[in-house]
Amino acid sequence: LRHFLTIEGLSRELLVRIMDTAESFAGVTAQNVKKVPLLRGKTVVNLFFENSTRTRTTFELAAKRLSADVLNINIATSATSKGESLLDTVRNLEAMHVDMFVVRHAQSGAAHFIARHVAPHISVLNAGDGRHAHPTQAMLDVFTIRRAKGRFAGLKVAIVGDILHSRVARSEILALNTLGVDEVRVVAPKTLLPAHVEALGVVPYHDLNEGLRDVDVVIMLRLQLERMGTAFIPSEHEYFQRFGLTEKRLEKARPDVIVMHPGPINRGIEIDSAIADGPRSVILQQVTHGIAVRMAVMSMAMHSGPDMEVPA
Ligand code: CP
Repeated sequence: LRHFLTIEGLSRELLVRIMDTAESFAGVTAQNVKKVPLLRGKTVVNLFFENSTRTRTTFELAAKRLSADVLNINIATSATSKGESLLDTVRNLEAMHVDMFVVRHAQSGAAHFIARHVAPHISVLNAGDGRHAHPTQAMLDVFTIRRAKGRFAGLKVAIVGDILHSRVARSEILALNTLGVDEVRVVAPKTLLPAHVEALGVVPYHDLNEGLRDVDVVIMLRLQLERMGTAFIPSEHEYFQRFGLTEKRLEKARPDVIVMHPGPINRGIEIDSAIADGPRSVILQQVTHGIAVRMAVMSMAMHSGPDMEVPA
């Protein structure tokens, strides 16, 4: 794959290949081999127009472990603040002979837009665009599930929280269904679910106790207040009473349930600290896996043919 912009349209085989490649990198880094030379001589640009802790730093670590040079563009102090357009920013960086853009942007479609305009040797990786997609997050999430459960068949997965504004949820739903889980549930108040949500291949629930019954995996999401505009915003207290994950509620799930969260977590709003820090939480493992998964995607983007088209 040349670009990695969305999970949509990717085959099960490709998702498995990404996870298998990530598995080999996870093994390498676990053996304290800090670097492999796969991206030696390449320059990766982290272009983050929205804030990030996990995605930006794990992309940077992944690139450095592949021996690439990394440029982190500080948007706040860049010429963007003087009115330079996204395309002009990209064209100027391209003139510096870079090889890969890792892009996060508040506008859905921003990474696709850049991918359509860069030179043929440049790869674009989507690190989150608006409400649309966060494909490497979905890949590290399914990688975490595979490591914990060893399979996808037969699994019931509940994604709980602000589905409406979540690019993570959209990408996860696509990945989980492509990999053949038994059932993907979305659990949220009606106001935080997209219209016709069933069309995404999920079963909607509005009651957390019902939604958690017999699930193998729970993925909690935060309220994306920055994307809500004038839409209904529940009070944090009210939200926790109805949709916060507690020990008591988690008893409805299977005994070997794992609890995930893409981060950042908001303790006491969508998740109780006893769960976030408890034995069933794999939240920090997800962060660690982000490095191996991003190494996999970056190395595959730089070393294989263009088997994924950029939609016009
Ligand atoms: N999961 C995720 O995208 O986290 P960051 O916003 O910290 O990158």
